[in-house]
Amino acid sequence: MSFTITNRSTGHSFPAIPGASVLQAALSAGYVLRHSCRTGLCQTCKTPVLSGTVTYEGSLYGDSHLSEQDRADGFALLCQARAKSDLLIDTDELSGIESFPIKTVPCRVIGLDKVAPDVMLVRLRLPSMENMRYAPGQHIGLIIDDKTQRTYSIANDCKPEGVTELELQVRHMPGGLFTDKLFNGLRVGQLLKFEGPLGTFFLQEKSNKPIIFLASGTGFSPIKAMMEHIIKRGIHRSRKIDLYWGGRRRADLYLFDLAQRWSEEHESIRFVPVLSEPSDACAWSGSTGLVHAQVMKDHPDLSGHQVYACGAPLMIRAARSDFATKCNMDARDFLADEFLSQSDR
Ligand code: FES
Repeated sequence: MSFTITNRSTGHSFPAIPGASVLQAALSAGYVLRHSCRTGLCQTCKTPVLSGTVTYEGSLYGDSHLSEQDRADGFALLCQARAKSDLLIDTDELSGIESFPIKTVPCRVIGLDKVAPDVMLVRLRLPSMENMRYAPGQHIGLIIDDKTQRTYSIANDCKPEGVTELELQVRHMPGGLFTDKLFNGLRVGQLLKFEGPLGTFFLQEKSNKPIIFLASGTGFSPIKAMMEHIIKRGIHRSRKIDLYWGGRRRADLYLFDLAQRWSEEHESIRFVPVLSEPSDACAWSGSTGLVHAQVMKDHPDLSGHQVYACGAPLMIRAARSDFATKCNMDARDFLADEFLSQSDR
């Protein structure tokens, strides 16, 4: 039996695909619904199902991260849920990335550069015919085996014709399937494979609201790609940019000089580094504390701003909640990509 899925907010309808998630069916039909991890964890795809029934049977990760309250309120995780009847859902559709096909692509490691004791810049080269197009801010999934991927944001801007080199910024997670290998033996010249581009974290260029970038640790990675894009396109001339980057120690802000240079060279770009636990060795005289708290201190009223947040889930969830409840932020203007690890599962 075939089912039809309709999105009330746009009026678009598309067929369910047997055995595939609602998200996959939407993407296959050319409708980009908000998503990120695709493993049932980040809740970016959490959507109200207004009528019809979904099932998580056959999904890899299920809905165990959906709260009882969300289930009772009729929400579903569209990256895992399958249609069991016709469905009426209610969610945004994003434009700007629908023409970037998700592909599985082989690549070669062409550069490994340790920029902090636990952060590696990894450069990948794609086959010359594989000009990849993506929106700065999106990520790829490095394929470890049939069932396992590790997602990393792309840290370099894209060109209109696509690129054949990607940069990743990878933090070592001891015990991590990929990062242990990366820090203990991956060599320049080795072949890898990835799926991408993925995710819906990217610059909303139709807006003219001032931008606040909020990064913790390697959450700087997609923000670097967006900043390169902004500077190349001159977007900072019409939208003021505040870049907040938080880490525990000075070494965590591994591209400090680059961010500093952006702010020195462009009047409308402001860089605010924030350390939560500076040691004497940091010789730090800048802001201290939680990075999202510094944003609130500088911007007690965030209505009229757009925030792009990337990094640790705790930081993002605190910022999302505090900005909305204490700084009048419109929830639709808070765009985020959580860096989830296996320990978050
Ligand atoms: S939970 Fe569905 S995209 Fe993350």
